[in-house]
Amino acid sequence: MNFELAHTDPHSAARAGVITTGHGTIETPIFMPVGTVGSVKGVFHRDLQQEVGAQIILGNTYHLYLRPGTEILERAGGLHRFCGWERPILTDSGGFQVFSLAECRKITEEGCRFSSHIDGSKHLFTPESVMDVQRSIGADIMMAFDECPPGDAPYDYAAKSLNLTCRWLERCFERYAATRPKYGYRQSLFPIVQGCTYPDLRTRSAEFVQQFDADGYAIGGLAVGEPAPVMYEMIELVNGILPIDRPRYLMGVGTPVNLLEAIERGVDMFDCVMPTRNGRNGMLFTSEGIINIRNQKWRDDFSPIDPAGNCFADTAYTKAYLRHLTVAGEMLAAQIASLHNLAFYLWLVNEARRRILDGTFSAWKPGMVVKLSQRL
Ligand code: GUN
Repeated sequence: MNFELAHTDPHSAARAGVITTGHGTIETPIFMPVGTVGSVKGVFHRDLQQEVGAQIILGNTYHLYLRPGTEILERAGGLHRFCGWERPILTDSGGFQVFSLAECRKITEEGCRFSSHIDGSKHLFTPESVMDVQRSIGADIMMAFDECPPGDAPYDYAAKSLNLTCRWLERCFERYAATRPKYGYRQSLFPIVQGCTYPDLRTRSAEFVQQFDADGYAIGGLAVGEPAPVMYEMIELVNGILPIDRPRYLMGVGTPVNLLEAIERGVDMFDCVMPTRNGRNGMLFTSEGIINIRNQKWRDDFSPIDPAGNCFADTAYTKAYLRHLTVAGEMLAAQIASLHNLAFYLWLVNEARRRILDGTFSAWKPGMVVKLSQRL
């Protein structure tokens, strides 16, 4: 994997770059739609490419390991072939999902024991097994196995957890070095910076991860309940330590405003379920603000969903029609809202990139933040 920095904003830490992978290039800053089980819920790959302009999608080791399992994925020739997505794929390592989804989890030095949320069966994830699963999936970018403590974890817990994540990271890289890609292209391994909201722990973590000379670095453990200004402080602190010449990925974040604030502080990659999950609930993100399409006020609004939007659904359907579909619980509503929101997120990061390249990012961003925060 290669990362070329094309331009850095003179007034902030915002950067525009290009990542090259075995499945093509990714222009940063980038948003990665979440395709947990190998499907971005409700959106055809064709539309992800042609309407949304997605350059990379995310899969989850936890879900793919439980179902369909590595045997099927290997026999298919990896996840790209299995699901028919020919562009890059990043997989999260399973740590975060085990903590949020699995039942009866128990963390030890060895790894994490858990019961499947699907059938209650018992499993063990270790740094080694999680590397092996991601090799079988064939992700272009694999994530290290980490513990993501709760947002309000006390200092002692956060410090112990970080130490464990550091030891797990060493084991991830040992396994990574001892194994080869299964499908003939390079797979990168990104460490994850943890440390909750404690500046000294974040600093130690951001320094520790650099010994592995990784292709890129992630910032985890944020947007887990802490106030947004604290999250921005942590991003600024960590990005001040991470190397300039590697991509930085902020995991699981966030709202359109969060994206702009993080881009301003030097983040290059994002993923979040918000555009799809909130879309399924009737929340639409637009360049003028946030729409709750269930609201009575859209009942007889026959204007396009988003006249300025750039996917076909934005002008093919009206707000009143989408409200009707949403209230009626029609699955087309979820499809339209997911497509719209993803196209909007990709528009936002592309526009940020364009502005970084032409030097207008810092002049453009504050006004956008005001607009994006409005409830319409
Ligand atoms: N997704 C969102 N936050 C995290 C995190 O801290 N770790 C991992 N592995 N995935 C995440």
